[in-house]
Amino acid sequence: MFPAFRRRRITATWISDPGALMLVVESESQLDGLTMIVMASPAGAWPSSGSIVETRGPGSPRRCAPRDDGKGCEMDALDLLLKRRSVPARNMVEPGPDAAALERILRAGTRVPDHGKLAPWRIQVLRKDGQRRLGETMAEIFARENAEANEAQIEAMRQKPALAPLLLVITHKPQPGKIPELEQILSGGALCQNILMAAHAQGFCGSWITGWPAFHPRIVELLGHDPATDKILGFIYLGTPSEPMEDRPRPALSDVVSEWSGPLVQVA
Ligand SMILES: Cc1cc2nc3c(=O)[nH]c(=O)nc-3n(C[C@H](O)[C@H](O)[C@H](O)COP(=O)(O)O)c2cc1C
Repeated sequence: MFPAFRRRRITATWISDPGALMLVVESESQLDGLTMIVMASPAGAWPSSGSIVETRGPGSPRRCAPRDDGKGCEMDALDLLLKRRSVPARNMVEPGPDAAALERILRAGTRVPDHGKLAPWRIQVLRKDGQRRLGETMAEIFARENAEANEAQIEAMRQKPALAPLLLVITHKPQPGKIPELEQILSGGALCQNILMAAHAQGFCGSWITGWPAFHPRIVELLGHDPATDKILGFIYLGTPSEPMEDRPRPALSDVVSEWSGPLVQVA
């Protein structure tokens, strides 16, 4: 089950616990320095079956997405893909990802298909100060450009970036060369999705939005980018859901998937 660990130089100790076994893994890599509680594996043996229900250690705290059946908290990768959904920022509360969880999110985010290995994207992490500064500018622009806006709307704009514990700004920076810009933008989109998935996999929730601020040159500039070339691909809010969220209807596969086996022949 853990071939990666088997290949590494590690020290492992089994500690029995009723109904569970604890495998303490120590290795040079910080991320591997985890304590894993592994269900249903015989003491003294490498786990060939069972699931990790909790991990903790230097690379932690590491939360994991709760399973639907309430048994443990690890979901497999396909489950995550099939179950991820957005949670609006207004429904997010603390905690947001801590340093270790955020690093995993950023590593997963930057591990995307990237034609030409151009890394044509940038990620900015906005904590409370950055969120406040962004909100002030958004409110100022909003008030100036919307004469009919009332105080409550302007204040909502000021608060918007701070709705969630953590805000990431993902920006496309086109790189010169023969790789079409569309492909570079698509790579940035994949990065955004990987971020959402990595957050979800660790028990957090996310929301990827744009809205007018993403397209406003003064906001692009405020964030240190060049409005002539760079594009904000998304603001990604990250936090913990305040309550269980209903899913939305998903497209029927029959509406969007078809078989293709060659050009249609026009019969005269
Ligand atoms: C590039 C991009 C920009 C988006 N911008 C917004 C937005 O500004 N406001 C919004 O409500 N949803 C926006 N969405 C949609 C949400 O991210 C999300 O997909 C939607 O709320 C449905 O939730 P789901 O992710 O569970 O399907 C955007 C999605 C993408 C891919």
